Amino acid sequence: MHQMYFFKATSAMRMTRRSRHLTLLKHTNLAGAALAAVVLVGCSPPQTALEVEQPEGWADDLALVEATDINPDPSIVEVELEARITDIEFVEGKPTPVWTYNGSLPGPMIRAKVGDKIIVHFKNSLPDATSIHWHGLRLQNAMDGVPGLTQDPVEPGGEFVYEFDANDAGTFWYHPHINSAAQVGWGLYGSMIVEDPNDPEVFGDELVIQLSDISIDEEGRFLPEDTGGEFGNLFGREGNILLVNGKVRPQLKVRNGKQQRWRVINAARARYYTIRLPDHTFVKLGGDNGLAAQSQEVSRIILTPGERADFVFTPSDEPGTSQFMQWIPTERGFGSVFNRPRENMLEILTVDEAPVIPEPIPVELREIERIDIAGAKEIDLDLTIETHSTARTKEIVMGVNSVPYWRSKPLEAQVGETQIWNVINNTAFAHPFHLHGFFFQVLDDTRVLEWKDTVDVPAESNLRIAVHFDNRPGMWMFHCHILDHADAGMMGHLWVAADEHDHPPEVDLHIH
Ligand code: C2O
Ligand code: CU
Repeated sequence: MHQMYFFKATSAMRMTRRSRHLTLLKHTNLAGAALAAVVLVGCSPPQTALEVEQPEGWADDLALVEATDINPDPSIVEVELEARITDIEFVEGKPTPVWTYNGSLPGPMIRAKVGDKIIVHFKNSLPDATSIHWHGLRLQNAMDGVPGLTQDPVEPGGEFVYEFDANDAGTFWYHPHINSAAQVGWGLYGSMIVEDPNDPEVFGDELVIQLSDISIDEEGRFLPEDTGGEFGNLFGREGNILLVNGKVRPQLKVRNGKQQRWRVINAARARYYTIRLPDHTFVKLGGDNGLAAQSQEVSRIILTPGERADFVFTPSDEPGTSQFMQWIPTERGFGSVFNRPRENMLEILTVDEAPVIPEPIPVELREIERIDIAGAKEIDLDLTIETHSTARTKEIVMGVNSVPYWRSKPLEAQVGETQIWNVINNTAFAHPFHLHGFFFQVLDDTRVLEWKDTVDVPAESNLRIAVHFDNRPGMWMFHCHILDHADAGMMGHLWVAADEHDHPPEVDLHIH
């Protein structure tokens, strides 16, 4: 009865709005317009989203630890990170020895503004060598955190100072770049948000969410890093417990109509996320590297490992009810969808307060120029999985153009050059392709134009990306961000020369 009424009111409301504000509609994304109806049908004059606050303690359960800025200069963010093992309980009474930054899972969130300098004093108190890679940032090559290519591994007890500028606004993250499938899987990841002070207020209050999963047994012990053997490598090792900001099914409090801006990072070693909230759509603002050219209404958010999404969530559930944000299986090859149940990830509790009218979200968000590809050199990068069998053994070798990382020769480019990479996937599995240090554009007119550093290449498909090498020479890496695939060889390196006399140096491809 109630439900019927709601739907009637909704469509009537949409009609009125449409006829009255034709021009407004063209320039805004009214995913939340339906909610307004509920309000208007009721009693006292409704408030708008900007007139009210989020419910008290709305995101307490999801709060990330923030890194402490020890530098009084407002344009320098200087923090300390220590990688160390900390006991965290996922199984009652049976703590898991999680690999953390500063003892928290996820590691501390680092927040900066565009143009800030970032200094990170890193100390390794783990039993193994590690490093920190700043995923998605356009920084100087020496700060990229890739042992063997840009620095030595940071040995147990060792230290390293990372120092770079936050050149671009966006949602970024950090993680180790050595034995990374295992180390990321054990908990080493954190977020970095670079704010653009010009972002409109209508995007709503910000919530940073790091999605991940963890593989433990009933005793709280990590499953061995090579669980499942060759098949584990092939499929990628998904954990058995879903984590949202390090927690199992935490709760978020929302108010009907009061918008929130979510910045979501997929920090899982292998798992893709398709996230969905029944009866809701989201207005996507962008992803990896700041705002996209236009906003876009979507029914679900899909994130490969390493990828980010930036979107506005407009709660529209009935006050006083709760339901779950769900993880939905994503088609990424054999066994990824069939017979796999959806899982509840995050409880959305709609507080018992009068709904408010959501703010329209602009459609045009940012001027992005298309990369000029005239005359660009085009190269093929075939992501390959091959089985090498002898009479007694069978070995799966992953690579790029049939060559695993440790036997690869660097691709070559020069500062100022633009290239087109044709990323080919003839395998039965999807691969999230990631390039370090530079943003790229996907050459596909059906997509909203945006800057990317990680993109899905579905099974049996190919995708062309354009990349312009700005003035940051050095040895950069690219790889599949299913970290089990990367460790099995699906990585490569790229020499960006300062000029034509600048030849690739010797690097150590056995450290990875
Ligand atoms: Cu998050 Cu080499 O990557
Ligand atoms: Cu892959």
